[in-house]
Amino acid sequence: MTSVNDIRATFLNFFDRNDHQVVQSSPLVPRNDPTLMFVNSGMVQFKNLFTGQETRDYVRATSAQKCVRAGGKHNDLDNVGYTARHHTFFEMMGNFSFGDYFKEQAITQAWDLITKDFAIDKDRLYVTVYHTDDEAADIWKKYAGLPDDRIIRIDTDDNFWKMGPTGPCGPCTEIFYDHGDHIWGGPPGSPEEDGDRFIEIWNLVFMQNEQFEDGSMVPLDMQSIDTGMGIERVAALLQGSHDNYQTDLFKDLIEASAHATGVDPYGDMNVSHRVIADHLRSTSFLIADGVLPSNEGRGYVLRRIMRRAMRHAHLLGAQDPVMHKLVPALVKQMGQAYPELTQGQAMIEETLLLEETRFKKTLDRGLKLLDDEVSGLGEGGTLAGDTAFKLYDTYGFPVDLTQDALREKGMTVDVDGFNAAMEEQKAKARAAWSGSGEAADESIWFDIAEDKGVTEFLGYDTETAEGQVVAVVVDGALADSADKGTAVQVVLNQTPFYAESGGQIGDSGVLKTDGATVTVSDVKKKAGVFIHIGEVSEGTLTKGAAAELTVDHGRRSAIRNSHSATHLLNEALRNALGDNVAQRGSLNAVDRLRFDFSYSKAMTADEIKAVEAEVNAYIRQNSSVETRIMTPDDARELGAQALFGEKYGDEVRVVSMGVQGGSGKGLDKNTYSLELCGGTHVSQLGQIGLFALLSESASSNGVRRIEALTGQEALKHLTGQSAALAGVAGTLKAKPEDVSVRVQALLDERKALQNEVAELRKAVAMGGGGQSAEAEDVNGVPFFAQVLKDVPGKDLRGLIDEHKNRLGSAVILLISDAGGKAAVAAGVTDDLTSKVSAVDVVKAAAAELGGKGGGGRPDMAQAGGADAANADKAVAVAKTVLGA
Ligand code: SER
Repeated sequence: MTSVNDIRATFLNFFDRNDHQVVQSSPLVPRNDPTLMFVNSGMVQFKNLFTGQETRDYVRATSAQKCVRAGGKHNDLDNVGYTARHHTFFEMMGNFSFGDYFKEQAITQAWDLITKDFAIDKDRLYVTVYHTDDEAADIWKKYAGLPDDRIIRIDTDDNFWKMGPTGPCGPCTEIFYDHGDHIWGGPPGSPEEDGDRFIEIWNLVFMQNEQFEDGSMVPLDMQSIDTGMGIERVAALLQGSHDNYQTDLFKDLIEASAHATGVDPYGDMNVSHRVIADHLRSTSFLIADGVLPSNEGRGYVLRRIMRRAMRHAHLLGAQDPVMHKLVPALVKQMGQAYPELTQGQAMIEETLLLEETRFKKTLDRGLKLLDDEVSGLGEGGTLAGDTAFKLYDTYGFPVDLTQDALREKGMTVDVDGFNAAMEEQKAKARAAWSGSGEAADESIWFDIAEDKGVTEFLGYDTETAEGQVVAVVVDGALADSADKGTAVQVVLNQTPFYAESGGQIGDSGVLKTDGATVTVSDVKKKAGVFIHIGEVSEGTLTKGAAAELTVDHGRRSAIRNSHSATHLLNEALRNALGDNVAQRGSLNAVDRLRFDFSYSKAMTADEIKAVEAEVNAYIRQNSSVETRIMTPDDARELGAQALFGEKYGDEVRVVSMGVQGGSGKGLDKNTYSLELCGGTHVSQLGQIGLFALLSESASSNGVRRIEALTGQEALKHLTGQSAALAGVAGTLKAKPEDVSVRVQALLDERKALQNEVAELRKAVAMGGGGQSAEAEDVNGVPFFAQVLKDVPGKDLRGLIDEHKNRLGSAVILLISDAGGKAAVAAGVTDDLTSKVSAVDVVKAAAAELGGKGGGGRPDMAQAGGADAANADKAVAVAKTVLGA
């Protein structure tokens, strides 16, 4: 049997042999189309090559592309499970020529591949061509030898392929396979064409025009080829069936579902097994590509698919969650061709398990309500819109799930009533919001949100993407356009730019449209709308334009570093200081962070060192950072840190990082840090590079603040410090590692020298330096005076005491000349204080030295003066106090 994997390899090898570049499937979330929800055909990633906007170093390509058709324009969700060929996820194999070969080679290659490599019986093949395309019809006739009645001309859009309301397009030719008259159906163009007998297996599009929004269609400069072959259909055919669910790949998944639920795979409940098998593929691939269940945009489409599958698991009688158990079977089948599936396996399983566990809590009650409500309705009945809304709002039933549940009973939902109930709820929310204080200034953002929907953030997975400009705001008012030099606030339907929140600063970067370039300096978020703040630096920005958005990568990486390091720091602090430490605020800027936490005293140097070392140890561990979505309660149960007093929505992102030995948090109890967080993070901890703790200080009462650097900034800081150290070492002529010992030695030496100088000064003052040490007799009183050089005033007292001891009975006057200024001290031994006061002596001397006053006691007084040059005169005047 030719397996799906063989078929994919055969296709790609065929075109590889024919000089095509084999190109990897692009992710399911389109990076280059602002209006497309999911990639839905092989040509999406090559869109700009057809129009000549982009060129690559190849002009022929082939790929097997992951596609999802659910939500958005192409929505097959409702039919999946009930038909032979509808899928939410499928693979489209294709070959592409960008201005290289055209119709002839496209047709001849296709014919060779299907009739030779795939060995499909030519007698069962039919083709269609666009009714005016004689050229294609001729090639089929000549090369394939198909008779005229097997070349069917179609005059409808079925044979004129357009990717959407705008973009490259052209006539196409389709190849059909006749499964035989035992199956009902007719050839294309016939009234029975919708039957399962004639199945389209390959669409070859001759890209030659471009469709514009105003309805005009102009020829492209070059003629190109875009083909698409659904692998599931060809696999069915090559494996002898017309039913895609009978292929090896689907059988495996269906059997896994049967095994997990214990229900016969091919009995009455076959539809449920098919739904589960199909939805397992789309949900797993979407999660692997970074989409997580939510209540908005792509995340909500994923949730709808997940819950639809989960209801069918419930129909199969499953008591416990089932979907996650089937992931290994899918990875076994498709993990080799799509390694992202293998890499994301744990994350996919966890996300499915959490969603199913959560949905199970309301599923039973919701179904019971549904049963009660419809018990009175007969076949063909309609469920009231407000009941469907209650099921949605209270029990988490997407409306298509309710429709799916009623389909089996032949009933429908009043969708208009459902939408009206939804609108009413929004209006109530708005009324509540408008009543709040900040409403007046902000109402423009709420209006935009209501009118255009909230902005979808793509920046967890990409830093470049296209978005559609849904509003341009100039000076606080909506504008249709903005010219060069204007300060603008731009809102897009989706964006890779992060808007400031949770302590993380907003991104900056560039927004480019056909007509303008906007330099985005910051992004803020109001009412779910991302406001890109910037200036039109080129051209004129117009509302409605498609924009290419590029986040400043270096800056974003540096912000990511600090945010991830903040999580590690939070945990390290708790380990060092105890679990009472709680985050009080944070700022995550460009390789720079600030973290405030409750703690009553200053950290010790050892604690600071331990925290810094622990953060760096986890950076070096370089384990991967993972994000899951769960309810705040589930997250707290697993031990996640949440900000006290913060209001969280129904579901939160939970970021886990670091692996420790089994005593941690999270699902496997090995996680080091687990936090509720909507920010952007490194994918591997090693990307942070380095963490340098700069300071720990008081921020406010009971709150401490740490400031730290990461990545480049940390390195710059440490390099700067080591350069300074090297400078000191150079001056000291020592090795950097010896600097500390050398500096200590110098300080010790300095101390010893200071002591020595003091001693020497004392010695000089006590009679060294050639001066007389004897007191002279002045009017019967022994008087000793001395003029000293550079003795600090504070040392004079000690010297006076020394002289008192030495002389036994004397009046002593010391004047020190320190750089022209004078310090004066006088002392009188106790036996003489009744005759002379030291205060009088000092005052007299100080007056001569340009000083005023002088104070002290009769036995000891001090003063200063501005003019030490008069020292000798001052001595003479002092003597007059003794009556000289
Ligand atoms: N783009 C065309 C399709 O989707 C052919 O690949 O059918």
